[in-house]
Amino acid sequence: MIGSATQNGMRVSITGLGCHVPERVVTNDELSELVDTSDEWIVERTGIRERRIAGPDEALSDVAMPAAEQALETAGVRAEEIDLLIVATVTPDMAFPSTGALLADRLGARDAAAYDLSAGCTGFMYAIVQAHGMVAAGLSKKALVVGGDVLSKIMNWHDRSTCVLFGDGAGAVVLERVSEGGFLGFELGADGAGGVDLHLPAGGSRMPTTAETLGNGAHYVHMNGREVFKFATRVLVSSAEAVLAECNATVDDVDVYVPHQANVRIIDHATKKLGIAPERVVVNVDRYGNTSSGSIPLALADALTDGRLRAGELVLMTGMGAGLTWGSSLLEWTATNGAT
Ligand code: ACO
Repeated sequence: MIGSATQNGMRVSITGLGCHVPERVVTNDELSELVDTSDEWIVERTGIRERRIAGPDEALSDVAMPAAEQALETAGVRAEEIDLLIVATVTPDMAFPSTGALLADRLGARDAAAYDLSAGCTGFMYAIVQAHGMVAAGLSKKALVVGGDVLSKIMNWHDRSTCVLFGDGAGAVVLERVSEGGFLGFELGADGAGGVDLHLPAGGSRMPTTAETLGNGAHYVHMNGREVFKFATRVLVSSAEAVLAECNATVDDVDVYVPHQANVRIIDHATKKLGIAPERVVVNVDRYGNTSSGSIPLALADALTDGRLRAGELVLMTGMGAGLTWGSSLLEWTATNGAT
């Protein structure tokens, strides 16, 4: 799916932004006590130095709640005004009710349509596009989009090929109509044939949880790292190029590039191939690891804190992940709380 975001003359933008990570920091050295790995290997192959890990009683909604509150606060919007709440995640509190519904209740967003969206690490990009469509169409006036995951809960902590890569965290944005700027275009895609390269086999209707699935670890993340690496380096470039072309823009127009934070080598490859100057790229995978749906909003929040997001600047975001899925957006940044 590809399209301009301003076709009907409606402009929609991010008017509030928040993020949150669990307190507990887990370093590479700590992981090397669990599995046969080293700080040197992890830094060299991934760029990750540490990640945040949720506590035993911390579920997704607990991590998402402060992010959502901060997004509402910066937008100057009360929870009761939110009429749409989408939580993009693969680690909801439970299969149902949705974390969206649970979060709406905790926030006091009583008038919100609330649900979860599953598109792997690309979930936040998919959710932004859905919310954008509903706000632009007039179905929603103030939408809250949360991207977050607590992948530590579905990680095999004895599998060194996966457990060193991920972390927990969430980000949230408020979307509203604005008079100028805002989202310019989107591109989303999915390739289910590659789904097997990054999947969690058990616990669904294909393979319900049994003593056997628990015994053989089928309830944990399974990944073919090399295939995902190849896929990631390909789609980060093709998706970004597609959305730029759709918006009649070039990489030279991009002021801030926010790629999915999976691996510094994947980011470096995409940055070079696209020809984006390194100083325009937001990288925080070294501190958080891959937080899946939390990755892009966490990186956006970091860029805002660092003073790198200024009104009028063009922000290119590209995500990719399980599905396999990918998605990009081009956004002319507006001041938070800049809604019409
Ligand atoms: N510590 C030490 N050695 C390790 C570790 C580890 N943590 N993990 C794997 N190895 C070993 C392997 O066993 C292998 O050993 P062998 O040669 O004796 O078989 C060796 O290191 C090299 O393994 P490779 O898989 O070739 O290492 P590679 O350079 O490809 O890096 C990595 C592996 C980091 C997983 C890389 O493939 C990658 O980043 N893939 C993409 C992963 C990703 O981004 N996933 C998520 C994206 S989608 C989403 O966000 C949900």
